Amino acid sequence: MSDESRPSPTETSAGTSVETSAEVSAEASAADRPHARTAAVIPAAGRGVRLGPGAPKALRALGGTPMLIHAVRAMAASNGVSLVVVVAPPDGAGEVKSLLDAHSLPERTDFVVVPGGETRQESVRLGLDVLPPEYDIVLVHDAARPLVPVDTVDAVIDAVREGAPAVVPAVPLADTVKQVEPAAVPGEPEPVVATPERARLRAVQTPQGFDRATLVRAHGTVTDDVTDDASMVEQLGLAVVVVPGHEEAFKVTRPLDLVLAEAVLARRRLNDGF
Ligand code: CTP
Ligand code: MG
Repeated sequence: MSDESRPSPTETSAGTSVETSAEVSAEASAADRPHARTAAVIPAAGRGVRLGPGAPKALRALGGTPMLIHAVRAMAASNGVSLVVVVAPPDGAGEVKSLLDAHSLPERTDFVVVPGGETRQESVRLGLDVLPPEYDIVLVHDAARPLVPVDTVDAVIDAVREGAPAVVPAVPLADTVKQVEPAAVPGEPEPVVATPERARLRAVQTPQGFDRATLVRAHGTVTDDVTDDASMVEQLGLAVVVVPGHEEAFKVTRPLDLVLAEAVLARRRLNDGF
């Protein structure tokens, strides 16, 4: 924005600029808007290098249905979510639109598809760019977490509605974690630098939920490479809170994760049958 178009301080209550409304809402947050509308942005533009050769990860099948469709349904399953923005592989927006048309999805939810970028961060930003103004709460959810239960989605939305500018679902760790000095050559022994107390660590998942203006400001300000959106809000000095995640919200990253995801789906089908 040019300085000329920047509203004077007396005009800021009108919320005429993204930057201004971000500042207001970082303090007030979505808590003052209990009926705030929620949109979900689903970054799905990654290749899935760690999963091995094949189609882009989000388009690979799980139980015969593309992973992305599972993720879209998981977001649309929440009554609080009325718009889902899918950030497609850069050259795959048409294919993703066709996929959404070909699968049954809730009618009360709107769907938008945009092409993604080189990094996850860029893909999320491209999704945020197309959000209509009436959405005050944004979820960011990895397409690679197709099986997150609706209760987790709702818990994240509720926490944002209750006033947190940024909310992440997370689970305790099973393994002890060591900080190391990474070896120059993969496979070489790596010196241990520290062992953080496991009980204080959490593995974070998605959907992460945000006051929309706060997230937009974070994406406009933080340029460091990050692996989640909440850490950008932390860098702004704002509070981020954790709510309980779910073991089924794991990220499909490596081939073994596909085996686990198929098993979870099979268990759900079995349970639905009774
Ligand atoms: N993502 C994206 N745009 C990118 C990179 C990643 O939208 N340029 C998305 C992925 O599609 C995925 C989510 O971010 O839904 C989490 O990323 P990750 O699990 O790392 O997926 P990939 O980057 O596809 O996998 P890999 O790192 O193994 O290549
Ligand atoms: Mg990646």
